[in-house]
Amino acid sequence: MENTPAYELRSARFLASDVRRLVVKEGDVVIDATLGNGHDTLELAQLVGETGHVYGFDIQKDAVEHTRARLENEGLAARCSLYQLGHEQMLTKVSVPVRYVSFNLGWLPGGDKTITTLWPTTKKALESALSLLLPLGVCTVCAYPGHLEGDHERSELMQFLSRLRPQDFNVLHQHFLNAGEGAPECFVIQKQTCCTYTIESDIEE
Ligand SMILES: C[S@@+](CC[C@H](N)C(=O)[O-])C[C@H]1O[C@@H](n2cnc3c(N)ncnc32)[C@H](O)[C@@H]1O
Repeated sequence: MENTPAYELRSARFLASDVRRLVVKEGDVVIDATLGNGHDTLELAQLVGETGHVYGFDIQKDAVEHTRARLENEGLAARCSLYQLGHEQMLTKVSVPVRYVSFNLGWLPGGDKTITTLWPTTKKALESALSLLLPLGVCTVCAYPGHLEGDHERSELMQFLSRLRPQDFNVLHQHFLNAGEGAPECFVIQKQTCCTYTIESDIEE
């Protein structure tokens, strides 16, 4: 017991990681919608095991290459398909139901801050992700409202997620109340077993 580390409540991306470690099991198919430096992809590749699969997307060549190198270092590249492609096009590469989708919005840490996720494409990708989720499958979204584009994206995200029918999804918003303006936030969306959501049903509204 003495060696068991105490649970530590840390920032949004750690909350997303806690959630996916509860949700993703050996053999699952999952998506990393924003590869970045590949930290999330590596964790997912470990969680899905030898029989599972990770699909990953990023628009930046560097992000795809860094992620591939990280996976190869750990001998896990074979269980991942990585694409230098916008996540809004994920339906062109993924046609099977998935257990989990990760979105870590914003820019590549240590990279070009002008290349950041933007609401119109994030919305399209999120609609695709929600349509692909298995019943009780989960999508986590980490948002960074501490810069102008991130603030806009986060407020559109709030509106979009608030309008999802509770019969289709449970939506949780995790926000550190005392961390100051602009602190990262985490959204957890779980598909209900009786969900009838389709991309078209959202667009029709
Ligand atoms: C905060 S980083 C992701 C961090 C990453 N999950 C990690 O573990 O290191 C956000 C990433 O989203 C990527 N991005 C921006 N627009 C995108 C789009 N339309 N489709 C896919 N990725 C996009 C950026 O290139 C950047 O690498």
